[in-house]
Amino acid sequence: MAHIDEATVQAIRRKHPIKEIVERYIPLTKRGEDYWGLCPFHADNNASMSVSTRLDMFQCFACKKAGNIFNFIADMENITYGQAIQLLASEDGYQVNTERIENKNTKYYEIMSLSIKYYQNNLNSILGENAIKYLEDRKINREAIKKFEIGLSISKQPLTPFLLNQYDLNTLIDLGLTNTEQKDIFNDRIMIPIHDLYGNPIGFGGRIYQTKDSSKYINTKATKIFDKGNILYNYHRAHSKLNKEDSIIIMEGYFDVIRASTIGVNNCVAPMGTSLTKSHIQILKKITNHIILCFDGDKAGELATIHAIPLLEEAMVDTKIIRLEEKDPDEFIIKRGAAAFLEKIKNPMNVIDFKMNILSQEKNLNDTKETSIYLDQIIHELLKEKDEILVELTLKKLATRFNMEYSTLNSRYLEYKKKSKISIVPPIQKEIRRKNNTQYRQATDNLLYYMIKSPDVVLKAEDTVSMILDDKKRRLFNEIIAYYHKYGKLIVADFITYLETETNVADTFQNIFTLNLKSTYTKEEIEDYIKCINYYYKKNIIDKLNEDLKKEPDPMKQASIIAEMMKIRGVKNND
Ligand code: CTP
Ligand code: MN
Repeated sequence: MAHIDEATVQAIRRKHPIKEIVERYIPLTKRGEDYWGLCPFHADNNASMSVSTRLDMFQCFACKKAGNIFNFIADMENITYGQAIQLLASEDGYQVNTERIENKNTKYYEIMSLSIKYYQNNLNSILGENAIKYLEDRKINREAIKKFEIGLSISKQPLTPFLLNQYDLNTLIDLGLTNTEQKDIFNDRIMIPIHDLYGNPIGFGGRIYQTKDSSKYINTKATKIFDKGNILYNYHRAHSKLNKEDSIIIMEGYFDVIRASTIGVNNCVAPMGTSLTKSHIQILKKITNHIILCFDGDKAGELATIHAIPLLEEAMVDTKIIRLEEKDPDEFIIKRGAAAFLEKIKNPMNVIDFKMNILSQEKNLNDTKETSIYLDQIIHELLKEKDEILVELTLKKLATRFNMEYSTLNSRYLEYKKKSKISIVPPIQKEIRRKNNTQYRQATDNLLYYMIKSPDVVLKAEDTVSMILDDKKRRLFNEIIAYYHKYGKLIVADFITYLETETNVADTFQNIFTLNLKSTYTKEEIEDYIKCINYYYKKNIIDKLNEDLKKEPDPMKQASIIAEMMKIRGVKNND
């Protein structure tokens, strides 16, 4: 952003009040000091988006999106932050250098788009006949090929020389398209483009179709734009079609998602070859609270389901489960037809029913003792269930099935429930660590939050915080301090431009900004946060040194580690 100077960007920003920009897209009503409207970034039905004319910022209290006018335009128009600046700049009659104002990733997306087109052309060429036949045999129709932009890499028609006409080798290597010998990474594979959450093309999954290669799929390696852990295959398409009450269906494979779409089921996503993670769930939680797990029909799919359930329970997502009597959704649809699959989606299983199945698998339920253990396990599982009706129905179902009195089961349930409320969590080491971690994270977040609000807190933090362990939060911490010193104050709506264009911590800022903590704080609270941060930092280092010490045989080196530990213990700590 060195090209369009900061002062100009600030001038453009001031010229367009946030309310005016937001109202170009959505109607707002005044309530209290702020304006409110339906958030356009998630399925909103109770006006969760607030627009503050005082801060010149918008924020959604439900999906936690926040930012200034440029963020708003960028998200609405699906363009980069730089392009949003450019859009308003040209509206205002500024001459801006298009190329330089673009986000640094724009070029990468351009190359990926071009590669998609190249692979699509390959598929339609004579050399693509076998691949087309393969896809047809798999019942992937032309429409799906087009929609999912499926292509083909051909070793005789490599991508690299084509791209080298326009782009330099290092960029192609960085993007995971080419190796250092200038050879294509993907050879003779069906190419499935992968996009980020906003629909930018960032990578490929490549599937063999005629050879017997040991790796059925290869995916783009991790690159600057391709971060496998933070994307889901087909998210951007599934998202754009989603209604408020719709669920997202999570499947395992690319072709499961693609096949589902051929029968009109468009709300499917897939984590690519990895198990479902917390960050996947956080991504999905922003657009829906209803998730259906539809993994492969085999044992591995069952295990993946078992693994995902506690993560979803923890995130308080309404979870349903589909189990298939075929290898995967793809085969299920092919063998049993669209209607059978739609029926599955219409009547997915409850988590508790799924667990009842799993728990019964290894038991002989004709045996009284095993049955009693089984009932006990299920009652324990039911303790986690918030839906009282579901609990009652399940207990009744069990009573009928095992020819028992409902009241017997229910009193056992109530007894456990009472106990679970008063019982103290056993002091498992891991649990303690997790709690400390939470406390530490909260202290860091809260401190950053009040630093954004108040110069006093910035100065205090600058003076007394020893070190923040999380890379992005540390960067944000330092940026806030630097910004204060440069401008003597921090205008959030301007600070964002700086973060968006010069750093990679704009998202971290957004998370902090939308915490919406109480507006006042006490000096003691701030001191407590700092104390916690410094304590945790010290503890972290000392733990590490202790580990080193255990492994160190040399007494001289041991002594120096101990000296190091003493020194750390002396770190200014405010306590
Ligand atoms: N996967 C991967 N790398 C592999 C194998 C699998 O990235 N070597 C990912 C792909 O996203 C794939 C998913 O894991 O779609 C599921 O793998 P698998 O069940 O083995 O493949 P299918 O989806 O059944 O593939 P296909 O139907 O094409 O045989
Ligand atoms: Mn498959």
